[in-house]
Amino acid sequence: MSLLNVQDLRVEFTTQDGNVTAVNDLNFSLERGETLGIVGESGSGKSQTVFALMGLLAKNGIISGSAQFEGQEILNLPEAKINNIRSQQISMIFQDPMTSLNPYMKVSAQLMEVLMIHKGMSKQAAFEESVRMLEAVKIPEARKRIHMYPHEFSGGMRQRVMIAMALLCNPKLLIADEPTTALDVTVQAQIMDLLNELKSEFNTAIIMITHDLGVVAGSCDKVLVMYAGRTMEYGKVDEIYYQPAHPYTEGLLKAIPRLDTEGEILPTIPGNPPNLLSLPQGCPYQDRCHRVMDRCKREAPILTSFGDGRQRACFSDMETWNQ
Ligand SMILES: Nc1ncnc2c1ncn2[C@@H]1O[C@H](COP(=O)(O)OP(=O)(O)OP(=O)(O)O)[C@@H](O)[C@H]1O
Ligand SMILES: [Mg+2]
Repeated sequence: MSLLNVQDLRVEFTTQDGNVTAVNDLNFSLERGETLGIVGESGSGKSQTVFALMGLLAKNGIISGSAQFEGQEILNLPEAKINNIRSQQISMIFQDPMTSLNPYMKVSAQLMEVLMIHKGMSKQAAFEESVRMLEAVKIPEARKRIHMYPHEFSGGMRQRVMIAMALLCNPKLLIADEPTTALDVTVQAQIMDLLNELKSEFNTAIIMITHDLGVVAGSCDKVLVMYAGRTMEYGKVDEIYYQPAHPYTEGLLKAIPRLDTEGEILPTIPGNPPNLLSLPQGCPYQDRCHRVMDRCKREAPILTSFGDGRQRACFSDMETWNQ
């Protein structure tokens, strides 16, 4: 049994201007200890996908489909049940650490509280475990610094504190929603290295959300490339990286920031993602696609399997790509 099995996940929002399908029939699965990257530009539906899993959707959102966590359905659960899963089994870290950290409480109190409430630990045991966790995320002088307030840490260190907090209850799944985009490239790389180390130490599965395919390359097993709420491409990261099978993935690969190009202007994919309220007929990527054909304007390509467990939604013939 997979740790997480998502089938036909759909998220629709009712708005004054009509219905918006933010997540359109997504399918993916995750095994224990595995890392899945969900990649796409702003507005592609990455966050709403995981918000749906975590029961964090806005009130005007409607979810359908299925998501089984260790065989148990977690979509549309009553608040008390999803709360239980959120505190014990699935943890989430956000782009801005201050979303999870209380600015008015010392880090020690925030970490210890989690352990005392959810694990029933004594104050002393909770303190020792909190120090151990800060050491695990490589905060120097953890025993001393644990008494500081969140604002006394640098951005990268604050991110580490948040990761420590997310891992306190030893979750089976850690969802990281763009945890590094607010940081500079060097600190981003350090945080990704840290997550990789922690993954092997704690055997936590990770869903890593990012708009940067480069972040995914060194750290994920599988990747789901999303555009306008749909899967454009899905498969093992190495295969996608070395032989992308969707023109959108090709575009994202060209836009990867690298350490040696920091500060340089990167090629971006020309144009913007479509308005979900007025999607074109056919493929949602057609207006920006460098391989567009007439057919793409009439029909939306469905996701089809090829190779070893790969999938793509594109009509173009890959055999001709390198000619
Ligand atoms: N409450 C809401 N009502 C209507 N539309 C919404 C609502 N919340 C999100 N959306 C829309 O859903 C789409 C997907 O949003 P989502 O937050 O998942 O994007 P994202 O891929 O996480 O982007 P980013 O990289 O900017 O975080 C967007 O077009 C957004 O405007
Ligand atoms: Mg988002």
